[in-house]
Order: sequence, then structure tokens, then C-alpha cells
Amino acid sequence: MSAFAYRDGELHAEGVALSAIAARFGTPCYVYSRAELEGAWRAFDAAFEGLPHLVCYAMKANSNLAILDLYARLGSGFDIVSGGELARVIAAGGDPGKVVFSGVGKTDAEMAQALEAGILCFNVESEGELDRLADVAARLGRRAPVSFRVNPDVDPKTHPYIATGLKESKFGVAFDDAPRLYRKAARSPHVAVHGLDIHIGSQITDLAPYRESASKVLDLVDRLRADGIALAHIDLGGGLGIRYRDEAPVPLPEYAAMLRGLFAGRPERLLFEPGRRLVGGAGVLLTRVLYLKPGAAKSFAIVDAAMNDLMRPALYDAWHPVDPVRPRAGGERLWEIVGPVCESGDFLARDRRLALAPGDLLAVGAAGAYAMAMSSNYNTRTRACEVLVDDSRMQLVRRRERCEELFALENRLP
Ligand code: LLP
Repeated sequence: MSAFAYRDGELHAEGVALSAIAARFGTPCYVYSRAELEGAWRAFDAAFEGLPHLVCYAMKANSNLAILDLYARLGSGFDIVSGGELARVIAAGGDPGKVVFSGVGKTDAEMAQALEAGILCFNVESEGELDRLADVAARLGRRAPVSFRVNPDVDPKTHPYIATGLKESKFGVAFDDAPRLYRKAARSPHVAVHGLDIHIGSQITDLAPYRESASKVLDLVDRLRADGIALAHIDLGGGLGIRYRDEAPVPLPEYAAMLRGLFAGRPERLLFEPGRRLVGGAGVLLTRVLYLKPGAAKSFAIVDAAMNDLMRPALYDAWHPVDPVRPRAGGERLWEIVGPVCESGDFLARDRRLALAPGDLLAVGAAGAYAMAMSSNYNTRTRACEVLVDDSRMQLVRRRERCEELFALENRLP
């Protein structure tokens, strides 16, 4: 059962009425449920009980320190894609020894920072990066732990912007190139071969591409072993989808059973990099209706959240549920839910049948992942605050920005 449910005619987050959160902290505001966040992590971890594994939360989905703190306490590892994310892990009390570093464009400074911090592994995405990492490690007198992110050339059947495992994508090294790169890495005194990594895309709702890519890499891992290169772990990436509208996400037990069939009894530890699946359903964006503009062709509900707060609809045409915090009886019509930003692409939802009045609160659902994390200050809008609900308690985990802070780094002319 979701932590976001109606009670006495009003939408709650766990034991707290969303209207109480709006009254205390204002809108727009992201609201997260601690029970959902923890429950999703525990369920993911438990699905692989008995198989040696480590869940490395893909923190790009939502990098608020409170969420990282919560996951660090559960023993989570983290998948990072920048030095900034590593700094967040450390600030939140996470263990750098459980961090994997993904991404196609790591800089020398980021490599050095991660080597000094003692991360678990670099997911190397090109030969150039391998050479660079070896140089940086040599300079620091260290040996860099590496995996290659291998591109299995599998179609995850998801939005083209978030498919990453196809031959034509910028990610990973080509499958056929991998054996040569592993041999090269194994010869280098400055890197230590630890594992192999794949990540084929995001919001995947089909098990088949996972099965296909996992079998493909197993074959490669066995060939490497026969060549004298034994891997300590296999990182299967993230990508498991969630339900926004009517998607049928892969049930965790099915995903786990498929992997057990392939990996049970093998010597390699499994790593996972779930992002959306852990946090996506654990958040809503709370927003207030400012104005209603009913029209002959389209009717617009102008709310105080905008594309700068939640970019997914504008960027991917993504569908998020929109629910009234206190539903009204009767008077429904179709609304375009739009924000104050000066772009026609500034919409949060289209064609929603709702009964609305100015001042009403709306909850945009499934907004825990890639929501606040992708927000911006476009139109010099201060970003939303974030509140974590734990049972009947609410805690501000990021205060609203102040307008002066938005231009504090800028200078007028001398
Ligand atoms: N590992 C790697 C290397 C990744 O690039 C990603 C996501 C993940 C793990 C986590 O994937 P997840 O489990 O969350 O699907 N902004 C887009 C999603 C971009 C995903 C980028 N990479 C969206 O809002 O749908």
C-alpha cells in the first residue's frame, strides 16, 4: 500500500495531511515518505537474499542528503556520476568503500578525488578513460579498481533519451572490444581489474532485455576467466521501471528469480544500481492552483510549480498522476496543468479531468525520482523545498532557496 493515501477526504503522506505541510512550508514542495523510501530499499535488497550482492543506489535519481543518510544507515552502496555526488555521499555519512563511479566523462580531478576517498570501483566507459585513470593512479601512487561498462547492444524498449545499451549509444565499451581492454587493464600496474558492468537503460518494464544482456555478459565473464582474468563482481546496473500511469513494472521476485537462475553458485558478487525503483514512488510534488483559465479550445489550471521544478513532462512527455489534495464533488472538466514559466512546453500534465478552484492543492505523484534532482532556477525561480515525512512527523530536509541566493555568485560590471 502506498504511503500516499486519502484519509477523511484528504490526501496524506503517511500520517500527515498534505495541507498541513503546505501550510507550514509553502508550495511548491516535494514531500517524501520515509516508510516508502526504506521499504523500497529493503524489498530490493531482500529479493537477492542468499546471493552475495550490494545495492548501490543510483543517487542521481534523488541526491538529497536525508535520503542518502537513510540509505547509508541501511548499509547501501551508491552509484555516483560526479565528484559532487561523491562529496554528497561522504557528507551524508555514506561509505566510499561501497561507491561505484559511472559516467563517460570523468575528469582527472574527479578520478583523483575518488581514488583518495577509496571507492569500490570505477566503471570505465572507454579506452581513453582507462589510460587516463592509470595515469592519475600512477601519479598518486595508487591502484585504481576498475570494471568496464560493456555495451551489450540490447534494446531496452524504453524512451530513446533513456536507452543506453544500444550499439549506437555513447555509453560503455563495445562488446567485442572488451576482451582486449580487459587484457590491457590486467597488464597495467596502476589499475586492478575488479568487475564488469552493464546498464541498458531506464524505466524498463520488460524482463527480456535484462535476461538477454545478463546472459550475454556471463558468457564474456566466463571467457575472461578462462583467459586468467577472474572478476570479483558483476554490476547489473539499474533501470527497473515503476508505475506512473498504467505500466506493469517487472515484479522484483521475477527479476530476482531470473538472475538467480543465471548467477546462483557463481563466485562473483552482484552489484545493482537502482535509482527510480527505490525513490520514484516515494515522493510527490505539492503545488497550489494560482489561476484557472477556462477556454473554448483548452482550459488551463495555472499552478505554482513549473517545468523548472519537474522537467520530465516537458523533456520526455512523461505522464505523472495529478491528484487533488481535497477532492471536490462535481464540476469536473479537462484541464491542462501548467506552470508560470514563459514557455508553451511548461506543462506538468495534460487533459486531466478534475474539479478545481483557485487555491486548491494538487499532488503530482511518482515524483521521487529525477524530479527535484533535475530542477533548475529557470526564470529565476527559487527551487522547491523538500520535506520528509516519518509517520506523523514532518521534517524539512531542504529549505526553499532565497531569491538573493540565486544571483549571489554573479557580479555587476566594475
Ligand atoms: N546506473 C547508471 C549507469 C545510470 O546511468 C542510471 C540512470 C542508473 C544506474 C539508474 O537508473 P534507474 O534505476 O533510475 O532507471 N532522467 C530520466 C532518467 C535518466 C536515467 C539516467 N541513468 C528520467 O527522468 O526518466
